[in-house]
Amino acid sequence: MTLRFEVPREKVPDLGGRTFLKVEDKFLVLFNINEQFYAIDDSCPHQGASLFSGKLEGCTLQCGAHGLKFDLTSGFMLNSTHLKVSSYPVEIVEEQLFIVLNQGE
Ligand code: FES
Repeated sequence: MTLRFEVPREKVPDLGGRTFLKVEDKFLVLFNINEQFYAIDDSCPHQGASLFSGKLEGCTLQCGAHGLKFDLTSGFMLNSTHLKVSSYPVEIVEEQLFIVLNQGE
């Protein structure tokens, strides 16, 4: 089943920013990179550290725990397809943001 989560206006990150969201039983981080929005799980696929405060360079996010880097456009670890952080499409409809989650995954 698909859930479209309407992001509250106050939770929409400013340009270059990020916000933390709880959606159902998930903890997500929403990024605004050049007015493109990326939503991922706030859990590193390596050992589960929070990614919220990871270092961002372009669309690459570096986990603060052990330094692995992830491409926010795909969720995959850089130069690898072995590790992937769960990422979710973000839709914009009439200036309202929605995060699309497939439930039961
Ligand atoms: S928990 Fe993220 S790199 Fe190890």
